[in-house]
Amino acid sequence: MADVMNVGVFTSGGDAPGMNAAIRAVVRTALARGISVTGIRRGYTGLIAGDFINLDVTSVSNIIQLGGTILKTSRSEAFRKADGRAEAARKLADAGVDALIGIGGDGTFRGLMDLTNEHRVPVVGIPGTIDNDIPGTDDTIGFDTAVNTALESIDKIRDTADSHDRIFFIEVMGRYCGAIALEVGLAGGAEEIAIPEVAFDIDSACRILAEGRKRGKTSFIVVVAEGAYEGGATAFAAAVRERTGYDYRVSIVGHVQRGGSPTSFDRTIASRMGCAAVDAVASGASAQMIGIVCDEMALVPLADVCSQKKEVDLELLRVARIITG
Ligand code: F6P
Repeated sequence: MADVMNVGVFTSGGDAPGMNAAIRAVVRTALARGISVTGIRRGYTGLIAGDFINLDVTSVSNIIQLGGTILKTSRSEAFRKADGRAEAARKLADAGVDALIGIGGDGTFRGLMDLTNEHRVPVVGIPGTIDNDIPGTDDTIGFDTAVNTALESIDKIRDTADSHDRIFFIEVMGRYCGAIALEVGLAGGAEEIAIPEVAFDIDSACRILAEGRKRGKTSFIVVVAEGAYEGGATAFAAAVRERTGYDYRVSIVGHVQRGGSPTSFDRTIASRMGCAAVDAVASGASAQMIGIVCDEMALVPLADVCSQKKEVDLELLRVARIITG
């Protein structure tokens, strides 16, 4: 096994707060080991275009607290094609990049797998996505911050819902995954939570609202993951009104969940994962993802990560439904 002299790092897919902390950890750990670092801008798009920069020790100064990603990100169609990946492998070889660290979600990891299978580029993945939908790790970078951002909005909406005796349907991110909705639904005291993983029963939502009203409840928060219902919270609320006639408001939290300064938790896991990713490539590991399971670092084969699905914790839904007043 040849020594790794230069490692490439990039972010890809939806940005997530804490990605910068991970980049910083990768750069600083690599430099401490005498490995130089190539930053690849705009994810796989920049990889194909050869949009590379040298990252030195000061290039990552004062970024640990910043949301977004200094390397920028993208979702690349061209990289899904074999000739796009061949071009990317050529660009890496020309730049002398010996191994690649990709920070992102499932799409990013599938790209890493293709690159290593087809072109033998050593690759390691770091899970960075607000969705927390990656198997092999308890948490992904950005989830905790996104949850806290959404929760802040829900708390504020509850004030106005209570003042006006209103029903609010609040849409949070998660096209395929209800993890954010479950967590903020429970922590925000929502009366009901709709997620893509559980077939949704409009009648049961209407019943919950009607029974609450009978008990004298005047305001309600229903948290809806964007993928829980065709048309999101807006369509969901309209369907409830059709059956009940209840007046309501819809609030879509949206991309605000993807930005902002990362929480202490996200900065910490990002730093630990970035450091572990460099340790992994330096020791010759490839096709692995860095996870944290029960607070222990883990190396998880990317093939397993890409072929499995992370289940959401339905216990949160059960508890939320019991304790709603
Ligand atoms: O994967 C992160 C995520 O924010 C999802 O929760 C959401 O469905 C999707 O990205 C939105 O993607 P885009 O910003 O490309 O519209």
